[in-house]
Amino acid sequence: MRKLSRNDLCWCGSEKKYKNCHLQQDEKLSIMEAEGLIIPPREIIKTPEQIEGIRKSSQVTKKVLDMVAERIREGVTTDEINTWVHEYTLQLGAVPAPLNYMGYPKSVCISINEVVCHGIPSDRVLKNGDIVNVDVTSILNGYYGDASRMFIIGEASEEAVKLVKTAKECLDIGIEQVKPFATIGDIGYAIQKYAESKGYSVVREYGGHGIGIQFHEEPFVDHCAQKHTGMILVPGMTFTIEPMINEGTYRCKLLDDGWTALTADGKLTAQWEHTILVTEDGVEILT
Ligand code: MF3
Ligand code: CO
Ligand code: CO
Repeated sequence: MRKLSRNDLCWCGSEKKYKNCHLQQDEKLSIMEAEGLIIPPREIIKTPEQIEGIRKSSQVTKKVLDMVAERIREGVTTDEINTWVHEYTLQLGAVPAPLNYMGYPKSVCISINEVVCHGIPSDRVLKNGDIVNVDVTSILNGYYGDASRMFIIGEASEEAVKLVKTAKECLDIGIEQVKPFATIGDIGYAIQKYAESKGYSVVREYGGHGIGIQFHEEPFVDHCAQKHTGMILVPGMTFTIEPMINEGTYRCKLLDDGWTALTADGKLTAQWEHTILVTEDGVEILT
């Protein structure tokens, strides 16, 4: 790539001169790169048009989760929830991203109690005291939006309720770290510190991810990390934060179906997820 001059048009497609657009940011990134941090590849910085598309698909995802929130209750099967999600997503003009994604057989992931993530809908009936993660990803006009929430069925144990609450706080604390020139490592550091202060562990095998044009893009968002490490955050990046917080060990095991991840010790786990955008002055939650 030829180095741009100050008066060239910016690489971002804004039609502005480089000196009036991304030049200062690029200079700052070069200095940070020399400190060992990673500059985000330009392909993952979204244009205003792409951001609008991702914002709209994220709103579909939010609506689908709102619908699930209204209807989920003791006695329904996870297959029924899969049907609700599938049909409502289509009604909103979108497509459920999980279906056929790398061979995944359903339109949503539903992970109950000791299931960490990627639980496959089945004839399993929700029962009183279950804690359930419903993870929805929609594709609208080619753009992706990904989010998940926990639902408590009837009355759960005090410990289960506390885990669900702390996992939500972990997501919120992760989001609070997001602003231009912070790093991906700052997010994981804050989450891990908070979760461990409450006596929980943080899953390492799965993490958040860049999203927008594809389901899973760079960067990998580790929820367990060191401050001031990894990729630098810049405006226009879109990614998920989705910490999985465990009562016992952080270790997971995979079922023979190739998808369902369980806690290795069978103890409870909880997860919340948002798709976010790095803005000029901080963060926008898109879902
Ligand atoms: N929605 C999940 C995530 O947060 C990914 C699910 S992949 C699937 O990244 F194939 F299991 F749907
Ligand atoms: Co998800
Ligand atoms: Co995700």
